[in-house]
Amino acid sequence: MRYPGTRLRRNRKSEAIRSMVRENQLSPDDFMVPLFITEGENVKDEIPSMPGYFRHSLDRLNYELDEIAELGIRSVLLFVKVPEDKKDNNGTEPLRDDGLMQRAIKHTKENYPDLFVISDVALDPYSSYGHDGIVKNNEIVNDISAELLAKIALSHACAGVDMVAPSDMMDGRIDLIRKKLDQNGYENTGIMAYSVKYASAFYGPFRDALDSAPGFGDKKTYQMDPANSKEALVEARMDIQEGADIIMIKPGQPYLDILKAVSDELEIPVSVYHVSGEYSMIKAAAEKGWLNENEVIMESLISFKRAGASLIVTYFAKQAVKLLNGSK
Ligand code: PBG
Repeated sequence: MRYPGTRLRRNRKSEAIRSMVRENQLSPDDFMVPLFITEGENVKDEIPSMPGYFRHSLDRLNYELDEIAELGIRSVLLFVKVPEDKKDNNGTEPLRDDGLMQRAIKHTKENYPDLFVISDVALDPYSSYGHDGIVKNNEIVNDISAELLAKIALSHACAGVDMVAPSDMMDGRIDLIRKKLDQNGYENTGIMAYSVKYASAFYGPFRDALDSAPGFGDKKTYQMDPANSKEALVEARMDIQEGADIIMIKPGQPYLDILKAVSDELEIPVSVYHVSGEYSMIKAAAEKGWLNENEVIMESLISFKRAGASLIVTYFAKQAVKLLNGSK
């Protein structure tokens, strides 16, 4: 391969040839849309640190779901904002049959049976301490938290969810969830495991959205150290062994190396979470006129495909699909 016989610019000569030799494509099938649901009626609250992104009350959710379905996006990932007076350190609220998540799952499956509904299985939105586990003596206790998460997963399955997505990083919880679901006849309810989740400052805006910032300390005793890559494979392999159907890497762009390593090595679908802080950075720079928002979004999303992601959770999903449609 030598110049002048080889001229790589020949394959970049026009959009026609560029699109013919393009290695990766985005499509509506790639995306899972995170949705923030809140109590109340007729609520559509913009999240201050996430311009253009909202919390919706259940009675307004169909506006959002209609648009998602019309765009051909297949999946939503549900999160709930829990009122302060329903938070505790025992996991009472997340187990209630008529809790907000359970109602949101039922509502979505009843109204949009073809939409693939994934639920966040987590304690932090319900925790008076803002942690992903039960707190005892200032510690986040692993095993009782994992058992509780399995019960929460079961209650989402009973509400009709297609797949549960535990986002906590407790050891062994995938195994407990898989067994709990199977023992109760939910062997077809899937698990998307947040397997490789780093202790990241990029989650800030999400914690604003759900009012779920940790009340003391940080999440470094359970989420991964950003300096590490080797344990990413251990985490992912363990979750696959325990029964995960999809594993997740999170955050996205700062961890493309991890996404690439895990997807090259392992055989099940790998998703990536393009997290709230990544969304807000792009929005803020675009607002200032410093970056071209649409182009930066598409470049960011294609980087996930290039690095091996099968699926992308992103707050830009709708915008991206509209851009894809416009460019055809
Ligand atoms: C917590 C959870 C977090 C996110 C998803 N689930 C934040 C955290 O771990 O503190 C972050 C998502 C985002 O930033 O977009 N269970």
